[in-house]
Amino acid sequence: MPQKFYITTAIPYASGDPHIGHFLEFIQADVLARYHRLQGEEVFFLTGTDEHGIKIAEYAVKAGKTPDRFVSEIAEKFQNIADALRISYSYFIRTTNQQKHWPNVRKIWELLADNGDIYKGHYKGKYCVGCEKYVTESDLENGLCPFHQKPPEELDEDNYFFRLSRYQDQLRQLIISDEVKILPGFRKQEVLSFIDRGIQDVSFSRPKEKLNWGIPVPGDESQVIYVWADALTNYLSGVDFAEAGVTFQRWWPPDVQIVGKDIWRFHALYWPAMLLSAHLPLPKVLFVHGFVTVGGEKISKSLGNGIDPIAIMQKFSVDADAVRYFFLREMSPVEDGDYTDEKFITRYNGDLANGIGNFLARVNQLGVLGRGTIALNTNTFQDAIVAAYNDYAKAMQEFRFNEALVFASQLVKIGDGYINEQKPWELLKSGTDEAHEKFNQHISSLTLLLGNIAQLLTPFMPATAEKILIAIGLAGQVPDAWQGKTVTFQSLSPLFPRK
Ligand code: ME8
Ligand code: MG
Repeated sequence: MPQKFYITTAIPYASGDPHIGHFLEFIQADVLARYHRLQGEEVFFLTGTDEHGIKIAEYAVKAGKTPDRFVSEIAEKFQNIADALRISYSYFIRTTNQQKHWPNVRKIWELLADNGDIYKGHYKGKYCVGCEKYVTESDLENGLCPFHQKPPEELDEDNYFFRLSRYQDQLRQLIISDEVKILPGFRKQEVLSFIDRGIQDVSFSRPKEKLNWGIPVPGDESQVIYVWADALTNYLSGVDFAEAGVTFQRWWPPDVQIVGKDIWRFHALYWPAMLLSAHLPLPKVLFVHGFVTVGGEKISKSLGNGIDPIAIMQKFSVDADAVRYFFLREMSPVEDGDYTDEKFITRYNGDLANGIGNFLARVNQLGVLGRGTIALNTNTFQDAIVAAYNDYAKAMQEFRFNEALVFASQLVKIGDGYINEQKPWELLKSGTDEAHEKFNQHISSLTLLLGNIAQLLTPFMPATAEKILIAIGLAGQVPDAWQGKTVTFQSLSPLFPRK
């Protein structure tokens, strides 16, 4: 059986319109999913929407809709955009799905309770509704949540607690040893210093009169499970934990979980602690990405500056691959990165229109000029290609998506430079067989180079890569099968017209 690769994204709140910040994560996860598929692994890629909690219940009221209808409409928007962006998810989970998700939440709750880690208590303190998080003074800046610029609510209520403190030492050890590997390294340090300041138990339910929109606590209808305990469990529901059958056996645990920098505390502490308590294997890697800003500003509901990826595609009449490319190439995968229309167009024209698009056009024009079938039996670029694959593979292993793309672009530069230097068209002037043969060898090398560039681009820009491979007659075959093939060229329209 092929090796398995289980990858997840955070599930965005179905509380407002999807924006490019959410899709950065979907796109990064998709690149990994596609890359691992290309390696011959079997991939399960889970994404979805987080649909319970106070925040959503309040937004539904404001929108004048039932919560059910409200979340369904937003979940559909997320799915539509994910599909438009070619996100190759295996399953889209919704936490309001009572068959797929709820039994898993009840089951994990019962396991925690059986293990003595759920107890009745009283919470008096602060809560940020925007984060759906219990906060302390040290989480606030000037009394406001730094993520939502709002003061937290004061709570004073009975609820159930999860005995998180019990796992403090075990968590520290698992994280230090990289058994739960937190990337990038500076996030690992951030988690460790948080643990070193001491971990308190955490409220895991809310009274029903405060939170009606959620999953009832098993055995106590007066309490509703805390939205994060509910939402984190989606990673188990996606692979049918409650059924305890072959699906769960095959896929558990996640190989990579991708989340944003505002929610690592849940994923690096609560989540592994829940799994420890339930005696379940832990996820292997937690990858924490940075935030997308728009024109240097945080994306926020109040500024209304969230941009829908489809709006970018429409505004500039570009394919989804161009949007994927921008976020993967322009942004450091782990730091914040900025979107502006100007930056987008600069990347598009510089890297896509003048870069890969232009290189395809040049190779294609030469191929058409040769007017015949060309046997792919020469490859001058073999060494450069092997080196690029190695560097690229290393970058992919380390989630350096932007650098992986640079290794592909370097091959484009090599190819362009070669055409400029060799001027293959001049060989056709003499009309001798020998010169024509030499010309064909150049085209062979350039075609194989281009095919390999397309191969490297496949996880990033799947439709573009496919178009390139079709244009040069190499689609549907693995690179190992290209050598010795004969190909013919037909005129093409530009892959990325200049904007
Ligand atoms: O936190 N740039 O949902 P969410 C980059 N439901 N990433 C961003 C971003 C931005 N501007 N804004 C948000 C939640 N994100 C929970 C998750 S998982 C069990 C539950 C990222 O809609 C954010 O960091 O607030 C998170 O990873 C994801 O989008 C969903 O955020
Ligand atoms: Mg958020």
